[in-house]
Amino acid sequence: MKELRLVTDAAGVVSGQLVDTEKPTPQEGEVLIKVVVTGTNPKDWKYIPHGKAPFNSGDDIAGIVEAVGPNVLEFKPGDRVAAFHVMHSVHGSFAEFAIAPSHTTFHIPESTSFEDAATIPLVAFTSAIAMYQELALPAPWSRGTEQHNPKGRNPIPFVVYGGSTSVGLTALKFARLSGLYPIITIAGGSKDIIEKDNLADVIIDYRNNNDIAGDIKKALGGKELFHAFDGFTEYPSANPLAEALNPKGRITGILSYKHELPNGHKLKMTYVGSAHKTYPNFPVEDVETDKEFAYVFSRYLTRALQQGKFKTHPIEVLKGGLGGLPEGLNRLKAGKVKASKLVARIADTDGL
Ligand SMILES: NC(=O)c1ccc[n+]([C@@H]2O[C@H](COP(=O)([O-])OP(=O)(O)OC[C@H]3O[C@@H](n4cnc5c(N)ncnc54)[C@H](OP(=O)(O)O)[C@@H]3O)[C@@H](O)[C@H]2O)c1
Repeated sequence: MKELRLVTDAAGVVSGQLVDTEKPTPQEGEVLIKVVVTGTNPKDWKYIPHGKAPFNSGDDIAGIVEAVGPNVLEFKPGDRVAAFHVMHSVHGSFAEFAIAPSHTTFHIPESTSFEDAATIPLVAFTSAIAMYQELALPAPWSRGTEQHNPKGRNPIPFVVYGGSTSVGLTALKFARLSGLYPIITIAGGSKDIIEKDNLADVIIDYRNNNDIAGDIKKALGGKELFHAFDGFTEYPSANPLAEALNPKGRITGILSYKHELPNGHKLKMTYVGSAHKTYPNFPVEDVETDKEFAYVFSRYLTRALQQGKFKTHPIEVLKGGLGGLPEGLNRLKAGKVKASKLVARIADTDGL
């Protein structure tokens, strides 16, 4: 099969080599997928430092099941699926065939295209782990309790910094499904993607704004804030969230945040890799529960797509299939991709 392996030069510019390699064989609990469309994420360029061996860093797979390993119960050849590949491991999505664990593979309905499906896995698991594991918010299927009632008369306020990032926008979609209220988000020039589907009750523009914390407090209308998600996590993004948060509240983000936060808050980092395995500095016990959560949440994603409750991110299809990925990742790196997910159709690759 063909596989794209990425490298960076001394200046950090990403380039790729299309190589011939063996089609992988799925092991215990794994699914081999014929990739129809691959998604992309910022980590795809972040984790290929100069001097390292060329690497297929793609993790978002949309395609058709080719074969399954031992002990895979729910998938069979021919099934339409999307899947989250194990980050930093071989057999990623920038190839004709890729491998994913069955617990982070999910069926996609006929109504969801492979292009749209390729936008889902990594960001959906990130936002879901942040909200339901780190912040312990009620899941979309939760009826709630008297103290913690998402759908009743005492709904839970929620703040997301970076509502127009792929991760942040997905968190807003889940927040609506969980019945949180008010949903407050901080975004900039791409905020129309939030407005379009009415995914937030209040949008605060971060540009030329010296009092984001004050704006959050106003939007809360006297309610206490206990849950905040920083989907951007670049200083000073978490500071106004922590300032508006009740001293007993929780804040999570998606990058490490070295700066001190107001009111003694500590930002706990969400790491989507915990859906698969442990990583340095990540609590082992959290990985065990996150794996179980990822299994259950994958199945919910299929259902939410089928019922039309979960809409996918806007996309840009890269020209040239796998060959178009380096140019796309260089644009992503340069911050030139706004409010859309770059995806590549494998069949568009020259030389296949
Ligand atoms: N820890 C994890 O497991 C994990 C998982 C996934 C991603 N990540 C990390 O999360 C970050 C976001 O990833 P992504 O895929 O969601 O990014 P993305 O979709 O590529 O983010 C692009 C968006 O960022 C917004 N943005 C730019 N500057 C901003 C600012 N100062 N404040 C708020 N928003 C701003 C822009 O919206 P506007 O035009 O509205 O400004 C733009 O549309 C990346 O650093 C990624 O590496 C971590």
